[in-house]
Amino acid sequence: MNCDINDPGLADAGRRRIEWAEHDMPVLRRVHERFRKERPFQGTRISACLHVTTETANLVRALKAGGADIILCASNPLSTQDDVAAALVEHYDIAVFARRGEDNDTYYAHITSALDHAPHVTMDDGADLVTAILTDEQYADADIVASLEETTTGVNRLRAMEKDGVLRFPVFAVNDALTKHLFDNRFGTGQSTVDGILRATGKLLAGMTVAVGGFGMCGRGVARRMRGMGAQVIITEVDPLKALEAAMEGFRVMPMREAAPEADLFVTVTGNADVLRGEHFHRLKDGALLANAGHFNVEINIDELSQLARDIVRDVRPGVDEFLLEDGRRIYLLAEGRLVNLAAAEGHPPSVMDMSFALQALTAEHALLNRGSLAPRLYPVPERIDRWVARLKLQAMGISIDELTSRQEQYMAGWREGT
Ligand code: ADE
Repeated sequence: MNCDINDPGLADAGRRRIEWAEHDMPVLRRVHERFRKERPFQGTRISACLHVTTETANLVRALKAGGADIILCASNPLSTQDDVAAALVEHYDIAVFARRGEDNDTYYAHITSALDHAPHVTMDDGADLVTAILTDEQYADADIVASLEETTTGVNRLRAMEKDGVLRFPVFAVNDALTKHLFDNRFGTGQSTVDGILRATGKLLAGMTVAVGGFGMCGRGVARRMRGMGAQVIITEVDPLKALEAAMEGFRVMPMREAAPEADLFVTVTGNADVLRGEHFHRLKDGALLANAGHFNVEINIDELSQLARDIVRDVRPGVDEFLLEDGRRIYLLAEGRLVNLAAAEGHPPSVMDMSFALQALTAEHALLNRGSLAPRLYPVPERIDRWVARLKLQAMGISIDELTSRQEQYMAGWREGT
């Protein structure tokens, strides 16, 4: 099979972990079962650029069971789980182009391999496939039915493409579905970011001062989990509404310049560049830890940090680089500034990716069913799919809820009844 992975010998270990994750993905399992019977993707080529994890493996297995001819490449050079890549190739007959630790050239070569598949549907986590299709002449005639986007950063890029009028095919903002960002971004990023920081540093969070840059859905999750671990949490924000919300949730809110000399640990999760930069590095405490949980490794300006350093010691612990500054302060950068939850841990747990990936699978099916009637613009996931995923997840969790009585339905539909 045409593929590029680090070590096929890891396949058995990868399969065991994929099956372990599958236990916690009941909604996706249900979708997989239906796909296996109905084969909605028969004759459809799919290229997916996602983090190569046990959860993603279960998504691509479901799509393949539905008849898709699928190829997978990494959406980040440091997030690939090599055993999973091996298992997909060796045991599930799925082509994978992903090597943990791949350099940028290899990363983009893998994107090219995924697009050489001539996909009808693409799935992105960060919009790199769509960007390549729209910017590279060789894909000018690409026959894309639809594209799906998993993450906030990718949706931001797609919005900018839509605004610039360059989109040539419909794209679905899976991230914006409620059963995605209210759960994956908040509870998934919250837990997995703490997990990554703990695995990388082994530090006690209780009593630490932690500055979280950004109070979007992901930032909220990180801030609350850090607080739950006993840290004193500072929020930095540029959006007055989010800052106000953070303040009323009891977090201290201040500009990064003020947080810089106070915090022991910084976590950037804004989706923007240069959240931590030269003016902040000058003010950091000796021993400050810097981690990023945003999609791209642009939130911490590593070039500026490197320029300030008289010495850089790589891997003082696995995934921790020490920057010795001119004045003797030591600053520690985690996971090369790449998303710490995937680079230093395993990303979000399967039970939350269950919803995100059931959405991906069902939205891909929806896009195919509506082939030809969709415009080249950004679409939301249909509400019907969002609600179905929520219901199924509740059911799988053994939780039942109330139903509206007919009196309540009438009341909610009416306007005459008042005080
Ligand atoms: N994004 C965050 N966590 C993930 C995971 N476990 N698998 C795939 N994508 C992810």
